[in-house]
Amino acid sequence: MNHEQKEILKLKKDKNAVILAHNYQAAEIQEIADFLGDSLELCVESSQIEDADLVVFCGVDFMAETAAILNPSKKILIPEPQAECPMAHMLPRKELLKYKRRYPDAAVVLYVNTMAEAKAEADILCTSANAVRVVESLDEDQILFGPDMNLAWFVQEQTGKEIIPIPEKGYCYVHKMFNTADVTFSREKYPDAEVLVHPECDGEVQQLADHVLSTGEMIRHVAGSSKKTFLIGTEVDMVTRLRRENPDKLIYSLMDEAICENMKLHTLDKVKKSLEEEKYQVNIPKEVADKARKAVERMLEVI
Ligand code: 13P
Ligand code: SF4
Repeated sequence: MNHEQKEILKLKKDKNAVILAHNYQAAEIQEIADFLGDSLELCVESSQIEDADLVVFCGVDFMAETAAILNPSKKILIPEPQAECPMAHMLPRKELLKYKRRYPDAAVVLYVNTMAEAKAEADILCTSANAVRVVESLDEDQILFGPDMNLAWFVQEQTGKEIIPIPEKGYCYVHKMFNTADVTFSREKYPDAEVLVHPECDGEVQQLADHVLSTGEMIRHVAGSSKKTFLIGTEVDMVTRLRRENPDKLIYSLMDEAICENMKLHTLDKVKKSLEEEKYQVNIPKEVADKARKAVERMLEVI
């Protein structure tokens, strides 16, 4: 641990704070987190916070918002408020309402990568780890699903239900970078490797992979596998965590440029300031949070 990390740990103790971080955070932030996980694990963890006075959330805006939705009486801080997930802004509430009017009988399943105002209009949320189970749990066969068109495609393939992507072409700029040539080239280089990709990758990339998994599922898969070499198709700092936790395995990124710049806006310096000055607090209007909480809690009943 470096000096700044030690200072943060002390401050965290003095302030009775917990630090939650997503798997795409840089190594130095992963190391100071009390809990590190994928979106679903972070939702579950946020729903179980009991005795902390402060929660510092090192992830993008929609993740910190979800923690605030689940903890209305707690102070949830995000070290850099501009750490936004561009995909989560591709389905504003107004746009969603248009689709709901067009398909009045469809169930509305929103990816957790949406903002609170949109979540408040959903029947149920999902993450990449439970999207298939969530859709299968519904009576409806026609589903409005957004904002990621690739996760929508994955769910359609797995469930056979009519999945209507909303908007038509919502995407993640990081996972869009992967293409089929990356997979074929890397497979030739490492013929024994297993290829794991995230469902936010394009459908044709998913079809070439051995497994399509959320980041948390990748962690469990690699830890439990007897294979030695893995090629990872998601944000590069997943490789950081996988290498740290599996020193006996060979883990490579399918593309070193796959960096979520938005996640990286959090730095040790900003985490320290966030604890010292207790900012930036995530505030969600009560009526929005109350409605959104119903959709989050309904998802948490399915997992
Ligand atoms: P996970 O839930 O798989 O961690 O994915 C979150 C995300 O934003 C992927 O880009
Ligand atoms: Fe959003 Fe993509 Fe970054 Fe995930 S990787 S937080 S979906 S921009």
